[in-house]
Amino acid sequence: MRKLTNILITGGAGFIGSNLVRYIFEKTGFSGRIINLDTLTYAGNPYSLDDIDKKFGEKRYFFEKADIRDRAAVDSVLQRYEIDTLIHLAAESHVDRSITGPEEFITTNINGTFTLLEAVRAYWKDFDGKLFHHVSTDEVYGSLGSEGFFTEDTPYDPRSPYSAAKSASDHLVRAYHHTYGMPVTLSNCSNNYGPYQFPEKLIPVMVENMLDGKALPVYGDGKNIRDWLYVEDHNSAVWEIVNKGQLGRSYNIGGENEWENIKLVNRLCEITAEETGKEPEVFKELITYVKDRPGHDRRYAIDCSRLKSELGWKQAFSFDEGLRHTVRWYLDNRSWIEQVKSGEYLKWMEQNYTKR
Ligand code: NAD
Ligand code: TYD
Repeated sequence: MRKLTNILITGGAGFIGSNLVRYIFEKTGFSGRIINLDTLTYAGNPYSLDDIDKKFGEKRYFFEKADIRDRAAVDSVLQRYEIDTLIHLAAESHVDRSITGPEEFITTNINGTFTLLEAVRAYWKDFDGKLFHHVSTDEVYGSLGSEGFFTEDTPYDPRSPYSAAKSASDHLVRAYHHTYGMPVTLSNCSNNYGPYQFPEKLIPVMVENMLDGKALPVYGDGKNIRDWLYVEDHNSAVWEIVNKGQLGRSYNIGGENEWENIKLVNRLCEITAEETGKEPEVFKELITYVKDRPGHDRRYAIDCSRLKSELGWKQAFSFDEGLRHTVRWYLDNRSWIEQVKSGEYLKWMEQNYTKR
């Protein structure tokens, strides 16, 4: 086990990052400090960690509104909190947005990662006891046909501006390990779902549209396949890697849980019906096939045997359990949803964070 004291998490106000901060404080016995550095794009909401801020704020949890592309701001955070461990999640993360507006994906995902690497290289003169963990995606490997799985040795073949930019960032992280000896680990995970996911990705879009009685837009023929993992299982894997992963090594993380989109949407309709006391047909009638996403990757499937055999990781949540938790969470947390949809969280943030 590594000794971790002051952990900088980038993108900690986003979906996976906010769940990671909560997971570390509540489930791991970690006794040090977490500094959450996030610039708060549309996808970042510090309100997601309001409970953590109330419990650990000022002593063990700190929020820093800063952009990973801003070298001076990153330098200042590294120095002020004496960061020894960095878990890098900040990114533009939505494929559809990368198709309509790729520029932010290039500047944040590539230049931002480069800025972080340069900043820690300068600050950690001595790499002993330090770690840069880079959180990435299985989308760097491209698209599969009906057979086979992505392993860590699958050649990179990104096909969207999002996955191309994430690929570039992965290469930079590995290059800093080989060239400068920087202590790094990487993970490439499949599709996550769970609480606090911004309602633009498949599962929250479907749940929200069901609740609003709107069409459920299924792209193309609905037969694209994704491998789904509950966000807490992703974060438990990241924590294992950060604590025990071999330096310079990449670990695939996946749910071994492949679903065609249309089958998943039907299952979600059934669970949402059970949780709201309605008939599934009320929701299934809303399913609408729409124009396909350009360059839509057909199938992702992860082989995560390295993570399981070397680090002993296993997932804790069955898909049905995770989906039910997620639907329940969206039903029970209407104020969070209203905030992120309306931009109201920005006002909340002004009131709560301008003092810092
Ligand atoms: P998200 O979009 O919900 O959150 C991203 C966070 O990064 C937001 O809080 C945003 O404000 C912040 N951010 C964006 N640009 C920034 C910048 N320039 N400076 C500082 N902060 C910035 O994304 P997510 O789904 O939580 O994904 C987190 C990471 O995990 C990403 O690196 C993504 O590539 C990776 N990943 C996601 C999935 C998935 O299914 N969501 C799967 C595998 C890997
Ligand atoms: P998404 O959640 O955007 O994740 P990714 O593109 O990173 O895998 O999409 C998951 C799958 O669902 C993908 O095949 C595209 C499809 N999809 C729809 O059919 N309708 C939608 O409204 C969305 C957002 C996605």
